[in-house]
Amino acid sequence: MIGVFDSGHGGLTIFRALTVRFPQHSWMYYGDHANAPYGSRPGGEVVALTQTAVAKLFMAGCKLVILGCNTATAVAGKQLQTAWLPQVNAQRPGHRVLGIIAPTVEAVTQTPWHVKEPVFPQKYNTDTVALFATQVTVNSGVYEAEIAKRCPQVQVLKLACPKLVPLIEAGAPQAELAHAVQEYVQALLATTPKAPEWAILGCTHYPLVAHHFRAALPPSTRLLDQPLAVANALEDYFTRHPEVGGGSHAGLVQYFTSGDTVEVSRVAELFLDTPVRFGRL
Ligand code: DGL
Repeated sequence: MIGVFDSGHGGLTIFRALTVRFPQHSWMYYGDHANAPYGSRPGGEVVALTQTAVAKLFMAGCKLVILGCNTATAVAGKQLQTAWLPQVNAQRPGHRVLGIIAPTVEAVTQTPWHVKEPVFPQKYNTDTVALFATQVTVNSGVYEAEIAKRCPQVQVLKLACPKLVPLIEAGAPQAELAHAVQEYVQALLATTPKAPEWAILGCTHYPLVAHHFRAALPPSTRLLDQPLAVANALEDYFTRHPEVGGGSHAGLVQYFTSGDTVEVSRVAELFLDTPVRFGRL
């Protein structure tokens, strides 16, 4: 069983891409809705909440957990992998945690995972990348550091969009979402004389309002598809680690939350356009 975790509904954008692409595995989603949003919390809290959530997914039978959350990946990913996982595996071996920022940066810089040094400092005429994310992800500096490792001449223009996650979690009307997105896009564009070549929606909630970003951004700015980038990277990971996943319940897809199961299911359906039933974990 493979687990996908997010603070709330956002990780469903990643989860949907993975469950469709890899039906041969069994899947479990966990949204920590009771504690969302994570994006404006102190880093230490995000690490503690992420560790608790991943531990729940391990207890529920997941061997691999994907942090379907940029905020959790940015502040907790490395720490969990290097400091906490070895302790978990010392008692019950075989657990893994993967983040979603490296696959996203690999896609936007068109640099495969195994290339860790700049090969082409400037690729495909990309001068400027716009990053929209939570305050915690923006403050972490992880995106620009990872991009600079691969393409040091690319400029990253970043903007925290703190209103978006609470609006999405509340199931706000489309007009209100469109207005909030427009304000953020205009604020970022005001900082640059020319349109960015790429825009990264660096919060997994934002693909739920991708249509509003598309409408507000200049037509020449390409929107990076983070769920697709993560699915592509995972396909490559499965090839390198054939021992991961599988199990006897291929195709099983389950949804869990720490929040109100009825309300969480209602909002999920609004965005995914298909009935989703959450249980308690
Ligand atoms: N969806 C999460 C992300 O990708 C964060 C949302 C939140 O603020 O909790 O960053």
